Amino acid sequence: MTKKQLTITQPDDWHLHLRDGEALNSVAPFSARQFARAIIMPNLDPPVTTVVQAVEYLDEILAAVDGTDFEPLMTLYLTDNTSPDEIIAARKSCFIKGLKLYPAGATTNSDAGVTDISNCYGALEEMQRSGLPLLVHGEVTTSDIDIFDREKLFIDRTLQPLTERFPGLKIVFEHITTKEAADFVLQSNNNIAATITPQHLLFNRNALFRGGLQPHHYCLPVLKRDLHQQALLAIIRSGSHKFFLGTDSAPHARLKKESPCGCAGIFSAHAAIEIYTSIFEQQDCLENLEAFASFNGPDFYGLPHNSKTITLIKEDWQIPDEYALGNESLVPFLAGQTMSWKISEQESQGTSETEEP
Ligand code: DOR
Ligand code: ZN
Repeated sequence: MTKKQLTITQPDDWHLHLRDGEALNSVAPFSARQFARAIIMPNLDPPVTTVVQAVEYLDEILAAVDGTDFEPLMTLYLTDNTSPDEIIAARKSCFIKGLKLYPAGATTNSDAGVTDISNCYGALEEMQRSGLPLLVHGEVTTSDIDIFDREKLFIDRTLQPLTERFPGLKIVFEHITTKEAADFVLQSNNNIAATITPQHLLFNRNALFRGGLQPHHYCLPVLKRDLHQQALLAIIRSGSHKFFLGTDSAPHARLKKESPCGCAGIFSAHAAIEIYTSIFEQQDCLENLEAFASFNGPDFYGLPHNSKTITLIKEDWQIPDEYALGNESLVPFLAGQTMSWKISEQESQGTSETEEP
């Protein structure tokens, strides 16, 4: 009996929602188990808009992952009123790695988001000058626009003009879901990169309605049609260095998902690297996994590669039906399904794909 195994440089998650309070304590260890670092989204209630708030949130996260080496990379929530001075303070802090643009009304806790990008030109000017990246939730929010067209229109109306006005601004187009977004990033200069989630690689919008309404497949930007899923899969097969791992793992309690007005968000941190590994294997491009998961992100952010490695073993295990989220319960992505890759408990060195006796 031989077991296939794969050792890669320890990966990072470049887009993660950890929440705060009891929920944070429940979910943070899942990320710390596999990732060395993660970009922490600031859409708390109230949002993390200042360096002072980010320090407090950082301390809370560090307490939740006590005993591990996990390094939270903090972000600030961009608002119409974010001042250039706050950007300077963020840059000086060293632990703040970007500003997150939520168009007002786009998603969970985005009410304090940006109503008109021109209100942010002062802050963006300073970010361009100091090299602090802008992380973008790329969807227009006007109610007359079909929800499946929101990302595409955001490119035309906001992102393209933004890159022309600020050609030196580093931008991460987060959780891309469309062929148009993939093409836009491919055609842009090296200041533009993108994250891709596991759900947008694994599914298209049929998954929202298969056998009935599936709230645990609902996230924003919403899953798109098959041709867009295929475009994202083509990106990972291509091995382009402009794309990297960002789970957008976003926990909501079961009752907030299975509700008359269910929340957007898919929790995938329980098995993120295992799920990505299965996808890359299924696409016959396992050789591209390490760059996607462990190199392209730090290269874009100007950070070092991790020095540790993780080993994944080809071994079946079943994802539980639920986990705890504070006093509530949380339904994980692919609940109840069998995974074919598992992280080995033993730390390893070197990078290889081998058969283990
Ligand atoms: O599905 C999502 N959930 N998309 C987002 O943009 C936010 C996230 C959340 O915070 O729940
Ligand atoms: Zn997100």
